Amino acid sequence: MNAFTYSYPTKVYFGEKAAEKHLPAELAKVGPNVLLAYGGGSIKRNGIYDELLCILKDAGKTVTEFTGIMPNPTYAKVQEGAALAREKNIDFILAVGGGSVIDCCKIVSAQALTEDDIWSLEYEKHGAPDSFIPMGAVVTAFGTGAEMNNGAVITNNEKMQKSPLWGAFYSFAILDPVYTMTMPMQQVISGAFDSLSHSMETYMGSPREVNYADEINEATQRNIIRNIRKTLGAPNDLQARSELLWAAAMAENGMLKIGKTTDFQCHMLEHQLGAYTDCNHGQGLAVIHPALYRHMLSEATGQFARMATEVWGVSPEGKSEAELAKAFVDALAAFIREIGLPTTFSEMRISSDTDFKAIADSTILTGGCAKRFTKEELLEVLLECK
Ligand code: NZQ
Ligand code: ZN
Repeated sequence: MNAFTYSYPTKVYFGEKAAEKHLPAELAKVGPNVLLAYGGGSIKRNGIYDELLCILKDAGKTVTEFTGIMPNPTYAKVQEGAALAREKNIDFILAVGGGSVIDCCKIVSAQALTEDDIWSLEYEKHGAPDSFIPMGAVVTAFGTGAEMNNGAVITNNEKMQKSPLWGAFYSFAILDPVYTMTMPMQQVISGAFDSLSHSMETYMGSPREVNYADEINEATQRNIIRNIRKTLGAPNDLQARSELLWAAAMAENGMLKIGKTTDFQCHMLEHQLGAYTDCNHGQGLAVIHPALYRHMLSEATGQFARMATEVWGVSPEGKSEAELAKAFVDALAAFIREIGLPTTFSEMRISSDTDFKAIADSTILTGGCAKRFTKEELLEVLLECK
């Protein structure tokens, strides 16, 4: 096992009416000027906005709204939020939404307090921001687990890069499963598949022998698979939503990564697909995963074989390790079809004229992946997904 330090900075309030019960006490700890950040307006339609605004007003806060944070948030949007936060002398950011809003605010909170350009600070000077406006998150869409980590995935349109930036941890996160009930079913499924992908990408890291975190990971994957099926069968099942909401946080809050160097090659490739096409993250992963994994069958045989038996319930009887590994990839591909996720880029309406070579060439190659991919082979994978 790799050496590790463990501590957790984000306090989670999970359950129905969590905002009503816990937000007032959290707001009492912060300054008067609050930036209320959200996306394209779903929170206005489902009543979450009214509820939170009421709590903010009762707490005596002066509220500035930062709106229109788009799925796949851009670096330009980060700069807009940072300028607003500076102008309004913001003491605290309340981010309300899914991964996009939550990620955008992580970098707003840093950019607002420095003259340094965060992108060049992190990618050119190899530094990291060290002061942040404190933040709280109210999760309305599950999947990314962004509320419990300090990574933010931001699209820099000038550089044609969708890449992780390191920002602040949220001091608290409110996870009310009722808030997620209005998510469109397509987003429920692509979000939950993203959580499954995070678990697999972590499992597939190194060292390659199974450790304690991997065994929790296997249970997390089984849970996500079961509850995706349950939610598709019964969209109003609050219990299944609750499970998906917490499993999403668990899959990306670092717990499953303890003692490991993670893989995340599929994510790096999908992020660049996103930079060039602005596609939905979970859908992009669903198309790429089976194709990428078929290229790794001989390097990742043991880990794939174990996922076949421990996650997908494939009987090992009479099967070689290589056959089990292939059975895992087949089971994953069949599940993606079963739950209605796309299996090709054309189903995602990604044009066949997309510059796939530029996408492959600009993809970060990860150290934890069982296979050392070349850019040429990543291009082959992308072309197989068309
Ligand atoms: O913008 P609004 O109007 O709010 O609508 C959103 C958006 O259109 C809608 N939505 C959210 N909650 C809703 C709702 N609609 C109805 N009812 C609700 N309760 O859902 C749409 C998608 O939201 P978004 O935040 O974009 O989705 P998601 O949570 O999947 O986040 C995706 C972003 O997170 C990044 C992705 O790359 C992508 O940019 N990721 C962040 C990670 C992290 N920080 O740990 C890890 C991931 O691997 C991922 O890369
Ligand atoms: Zn993801």
